[in-house]
Amino acid sequence: MNLHNKVAIVTGAGEGMGRAIAIRFAKEGANVVLAEINQAAAEETLATIGGRALAVPTDIAKVDQIDDLIARTVEAFGRIDILVNNAGVTKPLGFFEVTEADWDWMYSVNARGLFFCMQRAAREMVNQRAGKIVNIASIAGKGFRGTSNIAYAGTKGAVIAMTRIGASQLARYNINVNAICPGATRTNLFEMGIAEAVAKRKVTREEAVRRMEATIPLGRSNSPDDIANMAAFLASSEADNITGQSFNVDGGLMWD
Ligand SMILES: NC(=O)c1ccc[n+]([C@@H]2O[C@H](COP(=O)([O-])OP(=O)(O)OC[C@H]3O[C@@H](n4cnc5c(N)ncnc54)[C@H](O)[C@@H]3O)[C@@H](O)[C@H]2O)c1
Repeated sequence: MNLHNKVAIVTGAGEGMGRAIAIRFAKEGANVVLAEINQAAAEETLATIGGRALAVPTDIAKVDQIDDLIARTVEAFGRIDILVNNAGVTKPLGFFEVTEADWDWMYSVNARGLFFCMQRAAREMVNQRAGKIVNIASIAGKGFRGTSNIAYAGTKGAVIAMTRIGASQLARYNINVNAICPGATRTNLFEMGIAEAVAKRKVTREEAVRRMEATIPLGRSNSPDDIANMAAFLASSEADNITGQSFNVDGGLMWD
């Protein structure tokens, strides 16, 4: 158990890869705090984990709710060792369709919310001179052409940049900051993209998935567990001398 007795916050832990990460961390021995806007989904993850977990209803777009999340985590478990910034939002939009409201919505969660989670969790981590932050970015942030929309890609580019700057500014406190850049991963967001392809190309769901996966060198999309594997490694002491990096988990779609 690589995360024995560690205290880990996972944002967006009710569904998709956040849920897989939370369950994996609990299996690795961590006390997991589920920071999730969808309470019903958080309760399901909590029930699956059983014992060492706590659900704290949190909208990471609201800084006062992040402060409450941090306070409740410290109250329950005494410290924060790991933060996984996973919560993220998007929808399929063409270049000319992106509105100010779309822009603000995606940036408020994916970039602004992610930063304030990092800052607030790091305030606790500095006291213990140790911590691991894992940000879920995307290959969209590296210019993947099949992204859901341009503003989303911008938020993920921001995550990659903040991972580097955060790593350099927190290194003196022995806090590691790394990012994972998933490719297509079978979650709600994946289904949204497939539904768009079905409508646009007038094909079946199976055909849309087959065409998409045919573009991936290793021939398949990720399961959420593919991302949880990398998150468990980056959150563990095995990654002690790795910081500021953004690792693609995408079956070989992108090279940098
Ligand atoms: N699925 C993919 O193909 C893919 C690819 C690249 C990157 N990503 C990124 O991976 C991360 C997880 O995505 P997913 O596919 O598991 O999505 P998902 O929609 O299945 O799950 C996201 C979770 O985050 C929660 N959430 C949304 N807004 C929140 C907020 N303001 N505060 C707290 N929780 C909130 C949702 O309720 C949900 O439980 C996101 O950052 C996403 O951008 C996904």
